[in-house]
Amino acid sequence: MFANNLLADRTVFLTGGGTGLGRSMALHFAELGARIFLFARREPPLRETAEEIRRRGGQAAYATGDVRHPEAVEAGVEAAWRVWGRVDTLVNNAAGNFIARTETLSANAFAAVVGIVLHGSFHCTQALGRRWIAAGEPGIVLNILTSYAETGSAYVVPSACAKAGVLAMTRSLAIEWAPYRIRFHAIAPGPFPTEGAWSRLMPTPEFEERARNSHPLKRFGRHEELTHLAAYLLSPMAEYLNGECIILDGGLWLRGAGQFNHLAELPAAVWQQLEAVRKK
Ligand code: COA
Repeated sequence: MFANNLLADRTVFLTGGGTGLGRSMALHFAELGARIFLFARREPPLRETAEEIRRRGGQAAYATGDVRHPEAVEAGVEAAWRVWGRVDTLVNNAAGNFIARTETLSANAFAAVVGIVLHGSFHCTQALGRRWIAAGEPGIVLNILTSYAETGSAYVVPSACAKAGVLAMTRSLAIEWAPYRIRFHAIAPGPFPTEGAWSRLMPTPEFEERARNSHPLKRFGRHEELTHLAAYLLSPMAEYLNGECIILDGGLWLRGAGQFNHLAELPAAVWQQLEAVRKK
């Protein structure tokens, strides 16, 4: 569907790209011609992803740092500029999350997740936005949210608060920075299996099975389903999109919304009985 040079003009600063969906996006964007700069805390996964991109003929570099600290972000963005001469795209992908009963959380636990997700996204957006505005250059920011950013969710309250904040930032800056030709996109993924998310959010294999069975499509997302959407959003095809959040969850959040959606569990025999009664 996409030409190999679709993203040839783009230089992407992507946070948390050593593992999970960030890694998948980095590989895909590089395949489509983008230059990639990865920024995350741990060096080994970043090195591995960058090497894999180069092995496949793409261009990648990285720096280590914690998005929670504005001075670390500033240094990472500086490094990206030194390597590639410019950055025109930011993907705020780095995240932290775990399931917990909210009454048991320490202040530091709340701050850790909100620090990575909300403050981290803000620091990166501001660091790049300031440069784009000063240079009169356009830019694109893609924020990776979660399907419960809009609805909230029990047992992941720090993440729900932080992602809702990033959604608000997406919509706010889509307007404030439109005169500078800086546009904002958000993708809100539902369940996509990754080592990081699964180890923290799926307590047991039984929960995983139950989650799959209660999904309208009876399956989780495939990484390429997210990376294709992300590539489209960064491409020239999406230039009139701004401030939108696309929920990519196979309809999972809607399943919880409709009053009668749980009737999907009703066996066919019961439906037939009900229909037979109605026809009498
Ligand atoms: N339940 C409750 N509290 C938890 C927790 C859990 N499962 N995991 C960590 N915490 C608390 C810690 O106890 C600590 O609080 P304390 O100092 O009061 O004890 C606080 O959170 C910070 O934990 P720490 O491990 O020191 O912080 P960190 O900055 O290294 O880690 C996390 C940040 C907690 C978000 C960690 O899960 C992480 O690094 N995540 C990144 C990857 C990720 O989450 N990927 C999946 C995204 S969906």
